[in-house]
Amino acid sequence: MTIEPEVYEAATWAGAVAGLLAERLRTNPSLRVCLPTGDTPVPVYDAVVALALAGACSFERATVVLLDEWVGLAPGDPARCDTRIRTGLIDRLPAPPAALHVIDADDPSPEAAAERHDEAARDLDLVVLGLGMNGHVGFNEPGSMADSPTRVLPLTDASRDAARARYGSRAVPVAGITIGMDRILAAREIWLLVTGQRKAGILRRALRDPESPDCPASYLRRHPSLRVFADDAAAGPMGR
Ligand code: PGA
Repeated sequence: MTIEPEVYEAATWAGAVAGLLAERLRTNPSLRVCLPTGDTPVPVYDAVVALALAGACSFERATVVLLDEWVGLAPGDPARCDTRIRTGLIDRLPAPPAALHVIDADDPSPEAAAERHDEAARDLDLVVLGLGMNGHVGFNEPGSMADSPTRVLPLTDASRDAARARYGSRAVPVAGITIGMDRILAAREIWLLVTGQRKAGILRRALRDPESPDCPASYLRRHPSLRVFADDAAAGPMGR
């Protein structure tokens, strides 16, 4: 299936995505939504918080499920996805969501934590994703298949380096836990968020190259309700 990105100017991109999320919450207050961390959604969460504070939407009846988590970072580490979703979104809302499912990466058995999180990731209305520079979604790194389950997995060097260099972790993570491609593709709707010129090449691969485990995001095109929200820089020539 050929998917065209929905392209916005950088200045309006986050507001557009946030406005749509607010609309989903109004239509379905009990929305079950899986949310990512990373840098891409930060301005979207800022805009959603502003909308929530203005009374334009509420997470009060919604369930938020975290997309992925590092294993091997101490609780409170600034790179931890649970820290980031709380400080970037949840703790700033006027009313918290009815349920927040983070991933218990401190469980001595990460496999058991992954199994529990897989239960939380059933029956999702909406999965929001960022796009990794290597085509990963969540920690579904290259090599993942469309039916890859929620699991613990080794990280590529690039992802491990990102923890320290981009998100300021105090240690090097040893592994990741991610919601599987299977659960992502089983959601009712998927939104892929992509910004910045550095993502232009990988976005083009994800949307235009043949589907392949080399770029797990390419599997998203199988989904009948995939929307790709890109800014001008990430869309590059595709946006023109
Ligand atoms: P980013 O990360 O939003 O920080 O660019 C996306 C990802 O690697 O999944």
